[in-house]
Amino acid sequence: MGSLSLSHSPDVAVLMVPFPLQGHLNQLLHLSRLISAHSVAVHYVGTTTHNRQARRRVHGWDPLSISNIIFHEFPSLHFQSPPPDPNAPIQFPSHLQPLFNASSSLRQPVTDLLRCLSATNRRVVIIYDSLMGSVIQDFVKFPNAESYTFHSVSAYTIFFFLWENLGRPFEIDEEILKKLPSLEGCFTPEFVKFVGDQHEYMGRNSGRIYNTCRVVESPFLELLEKPQISGNKKQWALGPFNPVITGSSDHQTRHKCLQWLDKQAQNSVILVAFGTTTTFSEKQIRELAIGLEKSKQRFIWVLREADGGDVLINGETVKKSTNVDGKLPKGFEERVKERGIIVRDWAPQLEILGHFATGGFMSHCGWNSCMESISMGVPIAAWPMHSDQPRNTILITEVLKIGIVVKDWARRDEIVEAEAVKNGVRRLMASEAGAEMRRRAAELGGAVRKAAAEGGLGRLELDSFISHITR
Ligand SMILES: *[C@@H]1O[C@H](CO)[C@@H](O)[C@H](O)[C@H]1NC(C)=O
Repeated sequence: MGSLSLSHSPDVAVLMVPFPLQGHLNQLLHLSRLISAHSVAVHYVGTTTHNRQARRRVHGWDPLSISNIIFHEFPSLHFQSPPPDPNAPIQFPSHLQPLFNASSSLRQPVTDLLRCLSATNRRVVIIYDSLMGSVIQDFVKFPNAESYTFHSVSAYTIFFFLWENLGRPFEIDEEILKKLPSLEGCFTPEFVKFVGDQHEYMGRNSGRIYNTCRVVESPFLELLEKPQISGNKKQWALGPFNPVITGSSDHQTRHKCLQWLDKQAQNSVILVAFGTTTTFSEKQIRELAIGLEKSKQRFIWVLREADGGDVLINGETVKKSTNVDGKLPKGFEERVKERGIIVRDWAPQLEILGHFATGGFMSHCGWNSCMESISMGVPIAAWPMHSDQPRNTILITEVLKIGIVVKDWARRDEIVEAEAVKNGVRRLMASEAGAEMRRRAAELGGAVRKAAAEGGLGRLELDSFISHITR
């Protein structure tokens, strides 16, 4: 191991600055692996708890096995986080706002590390989450430091966000615009202000990085390249960040749901998982359970509560799903036990999606989940709740045509009833239209994996980024 990691560029260091939310931590951790494989040292920074969370939850590789990814662990942040409110009118996880606010106190430790790296390297390349702009703002004091903004969302979503914020500087195809959902109900006003404050620092960057791939989003990447949006700065689509080949985890540690999947027929199981930021209401859990039961399809349902600000204490996952558990209909698990399983701990989502038995994904359409599903060629039943999810839903269903809508954003205030769940699941898993989407998703997944392989287009784009930062 040691000799392999000898750096070709001992004089360039990458400083990775993720935003402390699971979908963000995970994407930049995966990107660290891609960059470190080019023999560039990557310094991944965060609090001890968030770094540990990112490492424990990542799937497909072991972060501690790569010696040129160096973790810098800062003391925990001080904040009080209320419990998530499943009945709030806006489903944005405002219980995490105190954590977001507190993350700005990483400015000092990050600057201290930057000073140190700047003194010992020819160049320091900062890759930071767009929501951490204020934390890295002092990089301008170090003449050999430069920064690249990582947007954790789809090219489609970030393009329209920037295009609208810049006052629609050019015309867009009417057909595309007609389908674009408004941002109403996506964020709390407080978070919108937070985003604006963090984006203030973007003008100082040297370019942008996206976790997407030209074979998935080339029209929107081209729009992002227009000078009115890019300011003539460089950009790279380096996705998918997640590994595209999985299934190597050894028998000892292999999750029991994967063993269950081994016994199921090809494309017969739908994964049901809604990310880490929301908790379903009791009524919604019941409707979902009844709908899954009535669909008569096979499923893995990941039933968890939203993450709090600090998901690990003494290295253990604090929140078991005891609170959501009691809300299942009586006798549910017993009745469905031949067809479905409920996972209450951290599920190996990437490996489940990569398994031959998985043929669909009921998802909130967070971008991390979308990219994982796309790379593994799995079609999506979309259930957006907040942030970029409603727009990702349109990308998946209307643009890429590899999924259906289960929760209609126009009726976001209503519970999704069991009947709609049943119909959605059956449509995706047991109809000709669903089979067609599965074929398209498989084709797109194949193209993405080809792009990410040696000599593929995505790989060339990563090579071009590496050459640029080590120039
Ligand atoms: C977060 O910071 C903003 C701006 O400083 C402040 O107005 C807001 O009250 C803070 N919110 C929380 C939940 O701490």
